[in-house]
Amino acid sequence: MKIATVLGARPQFIKAAPVSRVLRKQYTEVLIHTGQHYDPNMSAIFFEELNIPTPDYYLGVGSGSHGKQTGEMLMKIEEIVMQEKPDYVLVYGDTNSTLAGALVAAKLHIPVIHVEAGLRSFNKQMPEEINRIMTDHVSELLFCPTETAVENLRKENITRNVWNVGDVMYDAILYNKELAQRQSTILADLSLAEQSYYLITIHRAENTDDPDKLKAILAAFRDIDGTKVWPIHPRTRHKLEEYGLDASAIPGLRLIDPVGYLDMLRLESGAKKIITDSGGVQKEAYFLRVPCVTVREQTEWVETLEGGANILTGTDREKIVAAVHKEVAPVYVDVFGDGHAAEKIVAAIGQR
Ligand code: UD1
Ligand code: UDP
Repeated sequence: MKIATVLGARPQFIKAAPVSRVLRKQYTEVLIHTGQHYDPNMSAIFFEELNIPTPDYYLGVGSGSHGKQTGEMLMKIEEIVMQEKPDYVLVYGDTNSTLAGALVAAKLHIPVIHVEAGLRSFNKQMPEEINRIMTDHVSELLFCPTETAVENLRKENITRNVWNVGDVMYDAILYNKELAQRQSTILADLSLAEQSYYLITIHRAENTDDPDKLKAILAAFRDIDGTKVWPIHPRTRHKLEEYGLDASAIPGLRLIDPVGYLDMLRLESGAKKIITDSGGVQKEAYFLRVPCVTVREQTEWVETLEGGANILTGTDREKIVAAVHKEVAPVYVDVFGDGHAAEKIVAAIGQR
């Protein structure tokens, strides 16, 4: 059996690593990298660190408007899929690369496998929400990370070939956590002591593309005492420049380039709190038992809110500061599976 995997953005490399490893024991995988992310520290570093095989095809699509980026992906992926004739096309998550892969396959009558199916924020202003809904509705096999995701699909009348296999990012973290602890030197490199700093990531379009929101977020960071380490996503860096905002002037704020996965896990596990708008980082905070503050109005990962491990603040300056300073004693529940999502996915594909 031949499976064509389409990916292109940072979180997809991390999700694909555990699945590819198991998949390739039994099946042929053709890896198609759209090139949505292309900076070495947004792409190549993850292939090296996580031993993801070199893509068979690199489409070099790069950045652009949604239409241009997705359109170019559609044309290029279609050509390859017609040539390769895979039995399935496998996509992850909710990026434009996800949607492009799913749409091409569905139109060519090739069954789509969606990993991380059923997530919903119920906010259609988010490009990711459109990508998820569209992808789920053209998918043949839907692998959900949680029971909530299964229920979300049920409400949209998607009930056939839906599995709750747990979260592949949990697989990834279990596989790499010890390695990160042993190998990463990032804390020493940055002269950071354990539990002495906050870790920040911000990149959601809804936060970065509105100067007022980005200003409010920076104002909150100014009001938070102590060291704040911020590996800054290129989107956010570009937006700060465009709006003439100087984050480096904020006391205690240490802006660094995006880091690899192992360094990121180390930064996360050593932080006293994580402040983020990332989907993956919210979950990793939960897996690592580090309290999280999410700078968004909604989250797809509602399980992280119960028990107080994650607090939603939106972009309100005072809410962000209050949530970061709040003493919390979260209760954690194992709701993201048992760390064997990849095996379950591959087994389910095999049983079809
Ligand atoms: C994309 C996904 C988002 C995901 C995120 C993960 C969509 C619609 N969005 O958002 O769901 O959470 O990836 O990180 O698919 N850029 C670079 N170098 C790169 C990549 C991007 O400089 O290697 C800059 C470019 O200015 C580009 C901007 O970042 O215009 C945004 O990149 P893009 O891939 O369009 O969206 P992300 O914000 O990364
Ligand atoms: N990540 C990383 N280096 C960074 C920032 C994030 O390796 O500098 C990892 C992070 O640990 C998580 C994933 O990237 O596994 C999350 O991706 P991102 O925040 O870009 O996207 P999202 O999950 O919001 O779609």
